[in-house]
Amino acid sequence: MAGNRLNLIFQKLDKNAIIPYDLLLLADPSKDLIEQYIKLSDIYIARQNEEAVGVIALFPLTPDAVEIKNVAVRPEFQGKGLGSYLIENAINTAVHNKQKSICIGTANSSVGQLYLYQKHGFEITEIKKDFFINNYPESIYENGIQAKHMVLTRQL
Ligand code: ACO
Ligand code: ACO
Repeated sequence: MAGNRLNLIFQKLDKNAIIPYDLLLLADPSKDLIEQYIKLSDIYIARQNEEAVGVIALFPLTPDAVEIKNVAVRPEFQGKGLGSYLIENAINTAVHNKQKSICIGTANSSVGQLYLYQKHGFEITEIKKDFFINNYPESIYENGIQAKHMVLTRQL
């Protein structure tokens, strides 16, 4: 598995530890929105040689369903399998915690992320129309496409 090859550790962050906003802001440009879910989420960090290189935040939707609200890898470490490592470990954690469902949402413009999530078994279940228009003050563009809608994907 990539974790062994890359010498990675997947570690739950202590509830009173400093929140890694620098990483979280890579996935979600709104600190206000991050504040709304992060204190209620379990935060996991991928460490490589002690350095925090990635983050994934699991938010409890119900007692047996979680949502990955945020997943991010430090830019210079992207494209090396770390995102897959975080997602695989999040799925394993949800299974270990007897969750019945795990979901993750991203923008219609996040083409690579949609590829990544579907590759890891997530299936598109719902579209939240105009989510990014209604919840973010600035227009967001990726791959030359405006982020308008939230595409929700789910598995388990
Ligand atoms: N565009 C195209 N392909 C991509 C992208 C992308 N943006 N991101 C990942 N992939 C593909 C890779 O090519 C790779 O394909 P392969 O398995 O066929 O070789 C596969 O997905 C896995 O790539 P990893 O190297 O494991 O992913 P990475 O370490 O780059 O992490 C992540 C992916 C987390 C999306 C990272 O690019 C990142 O931090 N981006 C900025 C923040 C972000 O967009 N986060 C998600 C927002 S949605 C949310 O947080 C709920
Ligand atoms: N993967 C990634 N990017 C693509 C793909 C693809 N499969 N196809 C096109 N693009 C991108 C190109 O990179 C280009 O991006 P840019 O404008 O940012 O540079 C843009 O889309 C336009 O590309 P074109 O060169 O105009 O598209 P092309 O001549 O390759 O035609 C088409 C696209 C019709 C999908 C062609 O690849 C094809 O015939 N594929 C096989 C048949 C198919 O899949 N048809 C669609 C099925 S759905 C339907 O028919 C309703």
